[in-house]
Amino acid sequence: MSANTDKNNILILFAHPALQKSRVNRRLITFVRDIEGVTFHDLYEAYPDFHIHIKREQDLLVTHDIIVLHHPIFWFSTPAIIKEWFDLVLVHGWAFGREGNALKGKKLLSVISTGGRESLYQKKGFHGHTIDEFLFPIKQTARVCKMDYLPPFVVYGTHTLNPEEINRHGEVYRDIITALRDNEIDLEKARGYPLINLNSEEIIMNKENR
Ligand SMILES: Cc1cc2nc3c(=O)[nH]c(=O)nc-3n(C[C@H](O)[C@H](O)[C@H](O)COP(=O)(O)O)c2cc1C
Repeated sequence: MSANTDKNNILILFAHPALQKSRVNRRLITFVRDIEGVTFHDLYEAYPDFHIHIKREQDLLVTHDIIVLHHPIFWFSTPAIIKEWFDLVLVHGWAFGREGNALKGKKLLSVISTGGRESLYQKKGFHGHTIDEFLFPIKQTARVCKMDYLPPFVVYGTHTLNPEEINRHGEVYRDIITALRDNEIDLEKARGYPLINLNSEEIIMNKENR
């Protein structure tokens, strides 16, 4: 935890290569980008040519307690810039390895949207694996960097969501980010569910005081 002892600084690393065509994520980010204590960082906007400024990214990571990776799922993975960002920014001796402790203890939250419905992301569903399994490279990267990986925030079935449903996801996203900032998520309870946004009413403490 940095500067403020009872609040966390949150860095949202956002990636959508065609934000002008986005229906879901363009709306979702409006719920979180202006929250106090949140730094919203749009990677495609910052680096349209993919020339990622490694030191700037590392400095941003160091000055935040909770890192959020927010993007749509593309081909069961992240949009390309996030992979490039991982490859360049998370270097040995800094992010991982015996002396690579820059990210140690920071929390990592994946926020993703999928075109596929939830029923497709089951062992017996069309994709044959759960979303947790598809997110394994991120989970393991967090582990190797000694970070604390949280259950992901997932918005399934984007193609059939209506505007009210998208807004409802946005409200839950806002509530979870605010509660994470204020240390008001019951993390033990949250880890008992596959998604952090599945039972948000239950895992957010002091909700009545908000
Ligand atoms: C190149 C590309 C690849 C995609 N791959 C997947 C995929 O592997 N699984 C899936 O469920 N949806 C996939 N989708 C659908 C997107 O996840 C979906 O369009 C997005 O989450 C909707 O968010 P938006 O309205 O912000 O664009 C893909 C879409 C594109 C354009």
